[in-house]
Amino acid sequence: VLGGAGLGVAGCRATDEVAGQLLRSGARPPRPFTVPLPIPDVARPVSPGRYEVTQRVAAAEILPGLRTEVWGYGGIFPGPTFELRRGEPVTVAVRNELPVPTSTHLHGGVTPPGSDGYPTDLVMPAGLTPRPAHPGEVHHPLVKEYRYPVGQRAATLWYHDHRMDFTAPQVWRGLAGMALVRDEEEDALPLPRGERELPLMICDRAFEEDGSFRYPQPFDAPPTGHAHGASGATGTDGGHGRHGPPGGWGRLGGDYMEGVEGDVILVNGAPWPVAEVTATRYRLRLLNASNARRYLLRLTPGGRFTQIGSDSGLLAAPVAHDEIPISPGERYDVVVDFSAYPVGTAVTLVNALAEGPAGNVMRFVVTRRAPDDSRVPAVLSRPPQRPSPVVTRRFDFRATDGAWTINGQRYRPGVPLARPRLGTAEVWRLTGDFRHPVHVHLAHFQVLARNGRPPAATDAGWKDTVDVRPYEVVDVLVRFDGHRGTYMLHCHNLEHEDMAMMADFEVI
Ligand code: C2O
Ligand code: CU
Repeated sequence: VLGGAGLGVAGCRATDEVAGQLLRSGARPPRPFTVPLPIPDVARPVSPGRYEVTQRVAAAEILPGLRTEVWGYGGIFPGPTFELRRGEPVTVAVRNELPVPTSTHLHGGVTPPGSDGYPTDLVMPAGLTPRPAHPGEVHHPLVKEYRYPVGQRAATLWYHDHRMDFTAPQVWRGLAGMALVRDEEEDALPLPRGERELPLMICDRAFEEDGSFRYPQPFDAPPTGHAHGASGATGTDGGHGRHGPPGGWGRLGGDYMEGVEGDVILVNGAPWPVAEVTATRYRLRLLNASNARRYLLRLTPGGRFTQIGSDSGLLAAPVAHDEIPISPGERYDVVVDFSAYPVGTAVTLVNALAEGPAGNVMRFVVTRRAPDDSRVPAVLSRPPQRPSPVVTRRFDFRATDGAWTINGQRYRPGVPLARPRLGTAEVWRLTGDFRHPVHVHLAHFQVLARNGRPPAATDAGWKDTVDVRPYEVVDVLVRFDGHRGTYMLHCHNLEHEDMAMMADFEVI
């Protein structure tokens, strides 16, 4: 199936704007801009530097009047926001009370390998001790302590599930949240803060008639039925059609080769919410937490985003944009000045890539004038300089022999495709046959060139995720700092990720 109809379709539709397969809801979503924007709770440490978070099943009211079962960190979706400070390490004990194994990745974190959320480094739920489904699988019973040194610059990070073969359905069900690292460099800036700093986790979902999440693969495919060889990651070629064994991606392929998109856009877990703002500057921490959907964000009736930060921290200087393309996994830290609008204006954040309801994201209503002593200074920070690369490597993201592969390989845990040296930098040339948002764990990078030409203004700064368009050649300069050990790069289209588009690299 993957090599036949699915690939053929992807091949001839691999235009610039093709993305995932739209899944329509059975439930009726609310009118846009009627639900107030929620702000996720801030995680509270149980003692200095120690957090305890339980992953559990809970009920949420996402569509008014209906109940949605979510799988949440702390039982909430999005999970709590972690407020971290550079130089203050934390331990997060994650307890798994879900019916499935999990692995938690701090996306953008400079994290030791044992806490990076490797896909086979699993936190097992009570009562579940399946035989290993993958070579090298590690099972932590019930609780795992993740250690985060937080030695990195201020940045907008996020965390989400990363379980082998099941990241997409488990994130869809709610396992994601934000983590903000702050530092003295950022403290010294007169940026909007407090109520004028909004984390905005944007993602799409579809809903069944009863309000539960709709997804094309069963959420509760028993991991015990997930025998070795049943998944896209380790299975034999071919035969991964809808008649495959339970678990893994045997159920999908075909229509969902491009990834899954929902018809309801959520911000912080609420459908097309509305936020009242004063006519002042606001700092918006934009995160695309969608499985497969890309957005081209614009403000209507017009307006600009002043970008102050990228995935991995503050830019050297602000950059103004009329529109921001954001692919799954990416973050943009922006300031919007609502004093540019008359009081009473409804300012809508839209997605120019989608038509109909999915073309709306959320709305800001400018309620009144207010004093504003914030500013966006011309110099924001002194990000690390670009080191000289020691080697160039190529990573090609492609459908090969019926699977999503990197350099022709399906993901093989423990078999690194590269061994960069700690303290060096390399040029990685990223290419592919389809649209792939490429994410590198641990190591941050700068975009050097797209098709040999200078990168876009929206590629500025240090990043950890970059959108690679079909047949585009994207050169990035990657720095290997912080830790030795095994990490991964992968496509952040979560369905592609689960369909084996991942690779290990080992920092030596
Ligand atoms: Cu956000 Cu390995 O992913
Ligand atoms: Cu991909």
